[in-house]
Amino acid sequence: MKKDISFETISKDILSNRKFQRISTQKHHGITRIDHTLRVSKYVYEIAKKLNLDYESATRAALLHDFFTDDEYGNVKGLAKGVVHPDIALINAKGEFEINAIVENAIESHMFPLNKTLPRYKESWLLTVVDKSVAIFECLAYKFSCVKITKELRTQMNLAAILLFYLITMGRD
Ligand SMILES: [Fe+2]
Ligand SMILES: [Fe+2]
Repeated sequence: MKKDISFETISKDILSNRKFQRISTQKHHGITRIDHTLRVSKYVYEIAKKLNLDYESATRAALLHDFFTDDEYGNVKGLAKGVVHPDIALINAKGEFEINAIVENAIESHMFPLNKTLPRYKESWLLTVVDKSVAIFECLAYKFSCVKITKELRTQMNLAAILLFYLITMGRD
């Protein structure tokens, strides 16, 4: 049986990387980019493990999916930021870490269908679904403060994310 690898072990080198730590100063969905990243990564780790996926690659992709700072957008504005930031994150990830094919595709495709890179692995589908679910929750809770977010809603959104993942990846290898 494969050895159980903890979230801390998987994330240690990334979280201690100087360049990566810059995302802790960046605003994202009304919180910081590192808080968003950790929330997405921890859910991806738990779900990928339960589903018997390559949870190590899925978690590393989740940690690196928004690895960029706002000054790296250049002149890009509005919705186009959603299209270009996966490529920026991938360049940064490749510059600092060893990236396998699953991690690469998951980072590149996490904004699908806004950007046109198709998620090619179950781990990629899981990241894009969990990221969207978490983003909706964070925007409602922290950015707009327009609804009273309860633990129940968060649980329901996670269940919806898992259900969506199953529907999308049903029948795939
Ligand atoms: Fe993103
Ligand atoms: Fe994200």
